[in-house]
Amino acid sequence: MSVSEKLRADFTGWCRDTLFTADVREATRLINRYCDLQLSGLYRDLGLSKLLATPKTAEQLPAELGFVDSASITLRDALRRLGERVGTVKVEGPPLQASYQHVTEPEDPTAELAEVRDAIAAIGEDYTAATDFIDFGRDSFVKSLKDDPDYMDKLLSGRMSDFAELWHRATNVDPLQDLHGAMGARVIDGLIEKGSILEIGGGTGNGARHLFSLLEAEDKLDKIEQYIFTDISMRFVLASKHEFGKKYPGVNWGWKFFDLNKAFVEQKIPDASVDVVYAVNAAHVAKDIVAFLKGCHGALRPGGHVVFAERIRVNQYEMAPRELTLNLSIYHRSAPMKADYRPMHCYLAPENWHEVMRLAGFSSCDVLPDIEGLSGDFPDQYAAVIVGTK
Ligand SMILES: C[S@@+](CC[C@H](N)C(=O)[O-])C[C@H]1O[C@@H](n2cnc3c(N)ncnc32)[C@H](O)[C@@H]1O
Repeated sequence: MSVSEKLRADFTGWCRDTLFTADVREATRLINRYCDLQLSGLYRDLGLSKLLATPKTAEQLPAELGFVDSASITLRDALRRLGERVGTVKVEGPPLQASYQHVTEPEDPTAELAEVRDAIAAIGEDYTAATDFIDFGRDSFVKSLKDDPDYMDKLLSGRMSDFAELWHRATNVDPLQDLHGAMGARVIDGLIEKGSILEIGGGTGNGARHLFSLLEAEDKLDKIEQYIFTDISMRFVLASKHEFGKKYPGVNWGWKFFDLNKAFVEQKIPDASVDVVYAVNAAHVAKDIVAFLKGCHGALRPGGHVVFAERIRVNQYEMAPRELTLNLSIYHRSAPMKADYRPMHCYLAPENWHEVMRLAGFSSCDVLPDIEGLSGDFPDQYAAVIVGTK
């Protein structure tokens, strides 16, 4: 095990006692309910009770709804979630090849949606970034799966400036998302004395923002010998350069376009050149996760670490609430290469992370905090930091 027992125990204790507040836990529960209600509304809107009067697989549905073929993945996950959590459909067969049959028409969710939204807003207005993001998914569902299949990809890659605010709120303002960056920062602080960091998929800056404010508060900015901020969107890179370059002028910054699906060396990241490869909710974007990890392994100096603050699938086949919207992106739902170690698209389960790190040649992999240990306190827990050590 690479991460010291002390770091693991301290980090788990901090998550339990400080980060995962009663508000965070309650908001997570409510967002799960909110997602179920919006999916119930979609089930009604799409007339799925009729379509599923006889059992059907998810692959049979897109043609009947006039959706693009890969919408089967979106529908598969939505129906499994409705089956398991609401009882709307009966799910039979292996998780990824199941058939679905209508059981009970969900009630009109309008009134309860308003109640849950109010309850979330009462915890804190910022939490409504999550409900707004889910609402956007419900409103764009047919458009994204039928009329304009590239629509959600344009939003997620920053190509549609009209939605920059929605995306910024969904990744940074929403406290349930923001905590990923706080977790990553804490682990990096506990892991390295000094070193250079390459951040991948830095996007709207959640990772860097947390890390630098933590280090500044502790007067430890000199831990960072160099920080190379990268993303596939130059719009994001330049916005972060503007923000962080000004705020932390003493840091040795690098700003780069970087595509994590391409070789590191080709993109001028030499072998053995950094101590940490850091990513906040971006590593799961990799199409071929093992090839990406091999690239990280090559870029790291001996003993270096990848540190990925990630949403995980605690249950291998679960659909995350925000995937009501993310599953409308062709890239999110269908680009990642499927394999035994990655049966679902994008987010991985802890056991998948252990396997892919091993396949990429890392000497150890740690998933923090102690998820099982925390499950009694926070049953809907979904956030982890994965540390792979060269
Ligand atoms: C969920 S966002 C996370 C952004 C940021 N780390 C945060 O937490 O606020 C995923 C990021 O990955 C970037 N991305 C998508 N595809 C990529 C690729 N092929 N290579 C590098 N970055 C990519 C997106 O532009 C986006 O900024």
